Amino acid sequence: MDFNLTEEHIMIRDAARDFARTELLPGVIERDNKQEFPQELVHKMGELGFMGIMVDPKYGGSGMDAISYVLIMEELSKIDASASVIVSVNNSLVCYGLEAYGTEDQKQKYLTKLATGEFVGAFCLSEPEAGSDATSQQTTAIEKDDHYVINGTKNWITSGGRADVYLVIAQTDRDKGHRGINAFIVEKGTPGFHVGPKEDKLGIRGSDTHTLQFNDVKVPKENRIGEDGFGFKFAMKTLSGGRIGIAAQALGIASGAYELALKYSKERKAFGTEICNHQAIAFKLADMYTDITAARLMVMNAAWDKDQGNNYDMSSAMAKLYASKVAMEHTVEAVQIHGGNGFVKEYHVERLMRDAKITQIYEGTSEIQKIVISRGVIKG
Ligand code: CAA
Repeated sequence: MDFNLTEEHIMIRDAARDFARTELLPGVIERDNKQEFPQELVHKMGELGFMGIMVDPKYGGSGMDAISYVLIMEELSKIDASASVIVSVNNSLVCYGLEAYGTEDQKQKYLTKLATGEFVGAFCLSEPEAGSDATSQQTTAIEKDDHYVINGTKNWITSGGRADVYLVIAQTDRDKGHRGINAFIVEKGTPGFHVGPKEDKLGIRGSDTHTLQFNDVKVPKENRIGEDGFGFKFAMKTLSGGRIGIAAQALGIASGAYELALKYSKERKAFGTEICNHQAIAFKLADMYTDITAARLMVMNAAWDKDQGNNYDMSSAMAKLYASKVAMEHTVEAVQIHGGNGFVKEYHVERLMRDAKITQIYEGTSEIQKIVISRGVIKG
């Protein structure tokens, strides 16, 4: 067992760190205030290979491993969790889904553009009545001649107004339950497909979240992913990998807040000394560092499972459950260490605290992760 990163991994991590500090940091407060999607930065991340990190170079990807993916996600998330969720959804839900289960034609047509950042992808599973209970899909896809007709509503869709390609989960045959669900590729601009108003969110305000409406949207049969009825398993399998990305995002939010709190505690003086010399603050730093180190090991373990071809349903769920808890708890502590300044936007920690919350909700709430973990534990 070797806990050291390879030289290549260190180079990749440092490149992501450098990009986050020089490119993401300067406008991050303004984008959060204005709820502004980082369009130009997404193109730059595409040029750096961050939009198709694990995709085979023959489809335009970077051909890196999952360890590289989580290293990049952590560094981006330390600074800008809005940018990192765009990266995470594009990589692990959309690109991975197409590369693992798409046809060669689908890969040539869509993956090659998604992996380079020319296209942005969105993943459409959640509905007004089907969030955690994902088998209760109300959106329908009715087979007719050479196409399917999609009707329904999808909620809280990341990159919903900005994406070029949408992977849409819908019920084709209600009698078959989850075995009657399919996944489809829907292109932006398809007649009947409407983007609803943008959500005004607590955190990750620079990401673009919308409700989507499908009114008699005709999708050619060749845009179905996998065998008939594979849609629910497709969603579950891609979400297992997605949870590694969100766990790494939560880790980055926590470690970004910790680094700011540590620096501040060495500069700010109270009662005649830097506040890190007071045990009340020093013990908070000790707890933060310990929990963040544990979260990083869990995130790395899940990524390692994926790289080794092991099943990662449980390790990704555990990493997300734990890292998101650490992110929520310790961003609150980072604000506390900053005192009054922690409540002010220019110190960044209040944004990280707001951004942390979603990591306990999207790609399966913490309660859903406990369902996945407990079922795995009991099954053995
Ligand atoms: N891999 C492969 N198959 C799987 C699987 C997995 N990881 N998990 C479940 N399945 C299969 C099961 O084996 C079963 O198939 P069979 O009947 O053929 O054996 C089928 O799927 C149904 O599984 P369950 O009976 O376990 O289904 P359930 O109704 O009990 O639900 C659940 C399981 C884990 C709770 C699931 O509904 C779930 O993960 N819910 C949360 C959904 C979620 O994460 N939503 C996030 C939205 S996406 C998002 O947030 C993206 C974004 O924009 C940021």
